Amino acid sequence: MQADLFIDNAFGPATDGRRFPTIDPATEETICDVARGSAVDIDRAVRAADLAMRGPWREVTPQERGRLLGVLADRIAADRNEIARLETLDVGKPLKDSLGDVDGVVATLRYNAGAADKLQGETVPLGTKVIDFTLLEPLGVTAHIVPWNFPLGMAMRSMAPALAAGCTCVLKPAEQSPLSALRMAEHVAAAGFPPGVINIVPGFGEDAGAALVAHPLVRGITFTGSVETGRKILAGAAAGIRPTVLELGGKNPMIVFPDADIGRAVDDATMASFENAGQVCSSSSRYLLHPRIRDEFLDRLRVKAAKLSIGPGIDNHDLGPIVSREQYDKVTGYILGGQADGGRLRCGGRRPPHLQKGYFIEPTIIDRVAAEAVVAREEIFGPVGIALDITDENAAIELANSLSYGLCAGVYTSDISRALMVAGRLEVGSVWINGWWLGGVQAPTGGIKHSGIGRERGMMGVRNYVQVKNIAVRL
Ligand code: NAI
Ligand code: MG
Repeated sequence: MQADLFIDNAFGPATDGRRFPTIDPATEETICDVARGSAVDIDRAVRAADLAMRGPWREVTPQERGRLLGVLADRIAADRNEIARLETLDVGKPLKDSLGDVDGVVATLRYNAGAADKLQGETVPLGTKVIDFTLLEPLGVTAHIVPWNFPLGMAMRSMAPALAAGCTCVLKPAEQSPLSALRMAEHVAAAGFPPGVINIVPGFGEDAGAALVAHPLVRGITFTGSVETGRKILAGAAAGIRPTVLELGGKNPMIVFPDADIGRAVDDATMASFENAGQVCSSSSRYLLHPRIRDEFLDRLRVKAAKLSIGPGIDNHDLGPIVSREQYDKVTGYILGGQADGGRLRCGGRRPPHLQKGYFIEPTIIDRVAAEAVVAREEIFGPVGIALDITDENAAIELANSLSYGLCAGVYTSDISRALMVAGRLEVGSVWINGWWLGGVQAPTGGIKHSGIGRERGMMGVRNYVQVKNIAVRL
């Protein structure tokens, strides 16, 4: 594979020739050196995207855009094994999860392929003397800045709808995980996309990322990542009055009432707290438990967590390593801090003794910690679940809503009225009842409060990339 910039359907080095290593977090060794894009390369990529927007891409019909997205989906599906292998090497996740992620990318492309010719405006009644109608026009060049936890998945979550809507794209992958997007790029020209429609500039946030946000030819920005960086991006977007979609993570409560199916809640927590080693914006990171079922829930969860295998993702364990040294230090810092604040370690909390290399952390559960403790309030982004007590619906809602985050939540109860009442009062973008990660490419996702602005996926996701033009004709 070519670890270079991809601009105008061609691979090439950075203008200043700089490169950076991408690391396999299971071995701590360099996989390869990747071209490091700077502001100059971002400018080249954005200009290429702008030229494509004014030229060949503009002339491509919606149906043809959909067909191209479908061909790209087919090519990615055929290259599934290699893309998944690169994803696993780059970010550490189990190979089975990477394969599932590629399937998700294909599903995203197919959904948006189908959406491309279904975007339509409306006619507006203004009486007999005027005909008024709306056109949905593509925004133009769009910037996509994505994190490392689902590298190609996040990239396609926003690029596929942008392309469906007729926009062109410049993607800046995360510095930890550029490889899968660059592998995908090898299929772009062969799929038939004109030069400049899809451009990829690997690099770092503070130079390439910031330059992309600030570029005057960029007409829309989509970002997934931390609140801190989200704030900077929104500030950068403000200068150019650019529409911005932000997905900034969460501290998502799983609320378990005494009448819940505890087995199901435990199964879901095992998946939703420890899959991808907990590095998921929508993981279940706070268990809000009624004391009547608290011990049963935590005992059963501990038993299930202990059974998860941990090791290099390429060997298909249940948990791979944390993505980087930096994130590993951050997660272990939270675990130590939680204990210093009086929390009790129910399991995990350390590097597995049999793995002395790589950024591995055992599945971890902390209970008996105050709701005010840092570990109970901040996003840890590791395989760590925090247990807190609730007494009734009101206490659960108050605790759930007490943070600045508002991405998603789960409610477990056999009383559907209670479930819907609680769901209605939770300050989040998604609520799952008696399940976790229900939904798919058709269902909108996103957060409120500091968890973000806007929704991705579904037809709402495509609408992010159009603007409405109103045309009125005097008769
Ligand atoms: P980050 O938000 O700094 O990085 C995400 C992306 O933003 C990367 O592509 C990065 O290069 C880019 N970026 C960074 N600074 C930028 C800037 N000034 N201008 C433009 N782009 C910029 O996240 P990081 O440092 O990798 O992880 C820190 C924390 O963020 C994690 O511990 C986790 O809590 C959270 N996070 C949330 C994610 C989510 O899915 N919502 C995904 C990844 C991280
Ligand atoms: Mg890496």
